[in-house]
Amino acid sequence: MNNQITRKDFMKYSAATGAAMLLNALQLHADEQKLTNLKVAIIGCGSVSNRYIPHLQTSSMVEIVALCDIKYERALEQKRQYKLNAETYRNIDDLLKGVPFDMMITLTDMQVHGDLNKKALLAGKHVWSEKPMANTYAEGRALLDLAKAKNLKLWGAPAVVNSPQFSFMNKMVQEGKLGRIASAHGQYGHTGPTWSAFFYEKDGGSMPDLGVYNIATLTALLGPAKSIMAMTSIVNPTREIDERGTVKVEAEDNAHLLLDHGKGMISHIMCGFNYFDPHGHEAKGQQLHSIQIFGDKANMRLIGYDWETNGVYLDDSWESQAKLYVAETGGYQWQEGATKVAESIVNNTSPKINVEHALHVLEIIESARKSSAEGKKIYLTSSFKWPLF
Ligand SMILES: NC(=O)c1ccc[n+]([C@@H]2O[C@H](COP(=O)([O-])OP(=O)(O)OC[C@H]3O[C@@H](n4cnc5c(N)ncnc54)[C@H](O)[C@@H]3O)[C@@H](O)[C@H]2O)c1
Repeated sequence: MNNQITRKDFMKYSAATGAAMLLNALQLHADEQKLTNLKVAIIGCGSVSNRYIPHLQTSSMVEIVALCDIKYERALEQKRQYKLNAETYRNIDDLLKGVPFDMMITLTDMQVHGDLNKKALLAGKHVWSEKPMANTYAEGRALLDLAKAKNLKLWGAPAVVNSPQFSFMNKMVQEGKLGRIASAHGQYGHTGPTWSAFFYEKDGGSMPDLGVYNIATLTALLGPAKSIMAMTSIVNPTREIDERGTVKVEAEDNAHLLLDHGKGMISHIMCGFNYFDPHGHEAKGQQLHSIQIFGDKANMRLIGYDWETNGVYLDDSWESQAKLYVAETGGYQWQEGATKVAESIVNNTSPKINVEHALHVLEIIESARKSSAEGKKIYLTSSFKWPLF
């Protein structure tokens, strides 16, 4: 056997080795890029994008590379207003064919979230979705199955579990500070948005827009709910919407939910678009509480709203007044969800926000409607790992 290598073979071998080394180096470079920076696209450039974009811009790990809105002028306006070096698109199909990105942030009308999130996952993108991530629990579950099959991440708002006030309450519950917990109450309402009709159309409503925060908070604190009974109503049959005029209200604008968390714990949530509350949409300065939890050794009251809170009163003494804890935000902002999950992808960590929890909240919303329509208790099928942390 001739072990001698010809000059031609040597050149071929060296070229192949060199190419492999170059490819390795390029791959390493790509991996490094991936680890330091996540490219995101925003779909839906309306009201809430004015809260998301500035927050995303605070992170060195996030780069907004694309903006999309079917009202195209809104995408252009956000690019100009926030001085973004981003491409703009008129619809999701063009967005997905356009500039490469890693994660889509869905900030559109609620009714189209499921369809848009599915298209993004099919195109290989991670997804952060404003609430709800889909119109039904089955649709949301199918999205998560799709994400898992494609090794992608999917998350749904809200980010209430990120607040230091939530952490404090969670700690008190987990340490048994409240004793045996019996009851909890959450409420959130205002007189309703005027800028878009989708809030009042089918699959809109006060539950996915407002009640969703309290449902997320109370299930995260007390554990997944086992069953629900609810009453929903439409108080105002029509609404005046900017640039649209009068629209028919098709989704609940008032809802009361009773949740059974097991071990005797029952919580109540009310939400609606007819609640006069001057702090209802902008929570700053609210001194009243919106969440209460009662045990036989103590009770807690969350001041302000669970999405933007101003502290927690803990009342655990017959002698002294209730004490205020965690009056500072600790940097938490309700619009931080997309930024935090993007950073978690870059850092390869698990955020506090949990998609199974968001799916459970979605099942509760859907089941509340069913319970109200059929006048009966609905047993829930979903759950999530509890406590969350
Ligand atoms: N506005 C808030 O303060 C606020 C706060 C928290 C969460 N949210 C949630 O954010 C979402 C958006 O609310 P908003 O108040 O910003 O509504 P909005 O009406 O101001 O904005 C929605 C935007 O989505 C666009 N859009 C609709 N369908 C689209 C599609 N198929 N493709 C691309 N763009 C599309 C619309 O043209 C519009 O510009 C909702 O889920 C809402 O519940 C809003």
